[in-house]
This record gives sequence, structure tokens and C-alpha cells, in this order.
Amino acid sequence: MSFDGATASPLPVDPCWPAGVQAALAAMPPARAAALRPRLAREFPRLHDRLQRLYGRQPGFDAFLDGVLCQALRCAAEREPALWQLDLDRERQPEWLHAGLLGYCAYVDKFAGSLCGVAQRVPYLQELGVRYLHLLPFLKAGSPPNDGGFAVASFEAVEPALGTQADLPALCRTLRAAGISLCSDFVLNHVSHEHPWAQAALAGDPAYLDYFHWRDSAEAVAAQERHLGQVFPGTAPGNFTWVEARQAWVWTTFYPYQWDLNYANPAVFAEIAAALLKLANQGVEAFRLDSTGYLWKREGSNCLNQPEIHLILQALRALCALAAPGVVLKAEAIMPTRELPPYFGLGPQPGPECQVAYHASLMAAAWLALAEGEASAVREVLRHTPDLPEGCLWLSYVRCHDDIGWNVLRPELSALGSEPVARLARASRHYAGQGPDPRPRGRAFQAADEHAVHGTNGMTLALAGLPPDGRDPEPALARMQLLHALSFFVGGLPLIYMGEELGQDNVGEAELQARQGPDGRELHRPAFDAAAAARRHDPQHLAGRCFAMLRRLQRDRLALLPQGRPVRLRLLPAEAPGLLALARDGVIGLFNFGETACTADLRTLAQGPLQTLDAEGRMLTVDPQQPLTLPGHAALWLRPPAA
Ligand code: GLC
Repeated sequence: MSFDGATASPLPVDPCWPAGVQAALAAMPPARAAALRPRLAREFPRLHDRLQRLYGRQPGFDAFLDGVLCQALRCAAEREPALWQLDLDRERQPEWLHAGLLGYCAYVDKFAGSLCGVAQRVPYLQELGVRYLHLLPFLKAGSPPNDGGFAVASFEAVEPALGTQADLPALCRTLRAAGISLCSDFVLNHVSHEHPWAQAALAGDPAYLDYFHWRDSAEAVAAQERHLGQVFPGTAPGNFTWVEARQAWVWTTFYPYQWDLNYANPAVFAEIAAALLKLANQGVEAFRLDSTGYLWKREGSNCLNQPEIHLILQALRALCALAAPGVVLKAEAIMPTRELPPYFGLGPQPGPECQVAYHASLMAAAWLALAEGEASAVREVLRHTPDLPEGCLWLSYVRCHDDIGWNVLRPELSALGSEPVARLARASRHYAGQGPDPRPRGRAFQAADEHAVHGTNGMTLALAGLPPDGRDPEPALARMQLLHALSFFVGGLPLIYMGEELGQDNVGEAELQARQGPDGRELHRPAFDAAAAARRHDPQHLAGRCFAMLRRLQRDRLALLPQGRPVRLRLLPAEAPGLLALARDGVIGLFNFGETACTADLRTLAQGPLQTLDAEGRMLTVDPQQPLTLPGHAALWLRPPAA
């Protein structure tokens, strides 16, 4: 599937672009203006339409639109030659994202101390096969606590503790030369209360007061709260924060120091678009659009996944397609699967939107399947997972810096006829070591009420039951491999969370106590273990086992799974309840979530002989006439012999 108009369309005979646009084009080097005209012809109608729907009734709309466009054109004019060329290459090759990229996600300070430190770890990343590096927020943050940098105090400055302004483009260049794209977190739902916009609002500047959402009475707060959920009910209950200086409550979905932006105000859109394009011009190639599901507020609604969000995101995408078409937008919308298609532009208002989105339900379902020893939840999630448009892909993962949020699975579990809360609460208890199996060493994250299920914190191997002394790691390693094998098989973009490749454990108690703030997610935010990294080639060491495991999965992925186009997954029949059998492009993936071995009847799954790779990378032939025994927690990928 591709979107109408997503590829070059003929120039309009008489472009009715605003006067400022005509002037900006005239002032540009002719080659750039020539490249921008067809982009404008393609993007202007969509941009105009989306912004008009959002802001068309506001006074000064034409000037606003003119301003937004001219700002984008200025960014296009200022784009350095290497980035300009990257754009042209990616425009010519929209399938570049389907090249089997491997992602890695890290906090800058914990991974390498600073942006310069990250540059020094490039050979390490290359060794692992990483082609896409997601750095958690590194822009100037409000004073601690700042939610790990998710309270941004300036979109223009790098966090001083992490480096200088010049370090960012330098890092981008180093990464690009190594074939790695930098993805920056982009926190667009809220800013720190220390951001100049919030400070101006605090001082009573009416223009900036309108950057935020206010309630002036406890009744008004209560009326809205009735419809809202809570993200951090334990550490930041409620969605509003009293602001003494204004004698009013400001909307704060997350922590009280994270003020939600008011996207009904066109100035907010213009500022955010400018910030994003400026970062793109520093060399950032992808943006993780944080908390996108919360961007639009509607009185009397739960303020999640509102339709206007897609107008905002499509307008941002149109601006990128104009000024920095090589840039990728990735939605962080940790929502049930059924809510996600619109983030790819597959909603009631179709059009190019984000190219990538987190598949949180698949991640949670895989952990659930592991806890239950049966794969029904994964099957159900995949049954509801739509095929994506050309150039779009899922981000698949096992762990990230946040908790495993179980509640995203409620719709699928309800569809299966099971009692979702009880089932998910069991999984949550299981991973906290409070079920019949005492081995998992996670911890429950905060939950809103007794009807909500606690999320789960912890690093992969700890959740998978690795004993604290690290002895007998085989069962936990098998579980970890199973989860990654699924993530590498289904996703377009599998993401490794820093530390997993070294088998890092949960953060220890003393360090947890020493860290600022009571956020339970710190449990799985360890510092990079350089000593373990030094043992990464040692097959006897846990770090060596994990590093080799992930490298092998990436090697097998590139060797066995066809790349270059969107993944079309099919569920295959499987008799054993623990067995998940999938096909993509003729390749079969078998994943045994059961503790014990199961048998797969390949005759029902394949016509002729199949091949797989052994640990040393040798091709093995598998006879589909013979029943195949898959050990507990094992995964296997099989493909027909190459023609
Ligand atoms: C996203 C981030 C999370 C953060 C929240 C608020 O969900 O992943 O870590 O706390 O947004 O910015």
C-alpha cells in the first residue's frame, strides 16, 4: 500500500504558494529552489489542509501558514550539503529503512558519559551491527529530577553535562560516516517548568500562558480528572499541578514539572516544528516523538489518541518531507494495537505520518506468553496488527527504559475471552517473583487503582530469572534469546536496549537509593558495564554469551530474512499451545514459549526442504517430512533454499 501523492506529482501550472514562499525560493541557490518546487507542489496542499483544519478559524491563519512554510524553506536552504545529499538519496530510495537496520537505545550519560563519549563507542556499536542509534533525551533539561531528561528546558541547547553545541553535529557526522543514523528523542508533549515558555507564562505573559492548559478552579480540575487516566499515580498523582504564581492549575500529564503544551495554539505548533527542523539540520536523522498519544486535549474525553494528533503529525511530516525528507518520524504511542494504525497515517484522515511506531503490545504479549508458557496473546496481537504502508515499519523490542506496561493488552485478551485484569496481574506478579516461580527478579511499577495492572520494571535477564549470582544462566539466556528472536523476526526495526547485549543486571539496591527520585524505572537503567564489555568476546562470560547471541540473530536476520520491503507477517497453524509459528516472505519462524519441548509438523507449513543456519553460520538443511522437535524456549527460522 502507498499513499496517494506520496511520490513526486507534476508541478501545478500556477502554484498558489504564499508570497513569502515565492520570495524565499527566489532568494535560494537555483539548484535548491529547483529541488524544492516539486516538494512544495506535493506537500503544500497537504500541509495547508492539515493546518487549516487545526487552526484555520484563528485570526492570522494565512500569516501563520506563511511563517511555518518560510521557516521550513529557510531550514532547507541552510541544510549542509551532506544532509541535502542524504535527503536526495533517501527520496530516490524510500525503501532504505527496510534494509534490515538494527537499533540500539541508550541514555547518553549511562552509555558513554557524554556525546563525545558516544562517538568513541561507535566501533562497539558497529561490532554489534547497529545502524540506528536512539539516544534518550540529551537536550538541556530542567534541574533534577527531570524524568531522565524528559523535561526539556531548551530545544536549542545540548544538556551542558552531556556536551557542547558543537558536539551534536560532530557526533551525527561520526555516526553517519559509520553508517549509523542518530535518532533523537523529541519531547513534544510537554516542556520543563524551567523552559523559557513556562517561565514567561509563570510571569503572566498572556502569549505564553496560552502555550499551556490551565484550570482556574478545583471543580474544573475535578471535572476533567474524571475522564483521565494516570501515568504515574504513585509518584505524580493526578494530571494537574497548582501554580501559586498564577493561582491556577496547569495540565501536567506526567510529573508536575512537565507542563503539557497547548497544541490548539498555532504558535506552539510553529515553535515545535522549528525546533525539530533545526535539530534535523544538526544531523539528527530520526525523531522519537515522545508521548504522541497525549498531544491533543478534548474536554470531557480521556485525551488519548485524539484525531487532531494526526493532523499535527501529518503536518510535521509534510514539513520534514519539504525541508529534510531524509528524516524519519517515529511515534512513541504506547497504546493498544488497534489505536496505532492512525500513527502510520492509516486513520480516517489518511496520509503520510510516522514511518515507525513502537509495537508495545507485541513486546508485552511476548513477555506474557513467556510467563504463561503459551502463545495465545502474541497470536492475538499479531492477528490485529495491520500491514503497513510502503516505507513504514514497526519498532520491535524486548526492553526499553520504561516499564513493561501490561494494560495495552486488554483489548486482545478480552477478544480471547479471558479476564484481562486477572491474567495481566498474574504476569505482573510473576515478573516480580511473587508467583509460583520465585526466580524472576523484576518489580511492580505503580498502578492507578486496584483495577489497573502494575507495570513491570527490570532488565531482561533479571526478569527471565537469572539467579543473582549468575550461576546456571542457561534457562534465562534461552528466554532472552526467544524474545529477541521474535523481535528480530517480526519487526522492521528491532531495538536493543543498552546493557542487554552484555547481560547486565538490575541496578543494585545501594545505587538505587543513591539515585535522585523514587522512580521505580531506575531499576533497569544501569550504567554501561565497561568491564563486562571488555569480556564481550569471551564465550565463557555472560557478556560474551549475550553479545554473541544478538550478533548471531542479526547475522541470521540478514542472511535468512529477505529485506528491502515491508514485512508481511502470516500466522501459521501450530498445535502446541506454546508454539508460535509465523511466516514472512516464505521464511518460517518457530518460537516455543513453553518450558518443555514441542513438536512442529513442518509438512503443514512448507512444501519442500528448508534451510537454517547453525551457530557457526553454516547452512543446514531440514527435511520437512520429519517432525521437528523444538526445545523449550527455543526459536528457529527456516527458509526455502535460495533459488
Ligand atoms: C515517555 C518516555 C518516558 C517518560 C514520558 C514522559 O513515555 O518514554 O520515559 O517518562 O514519556 O516524557
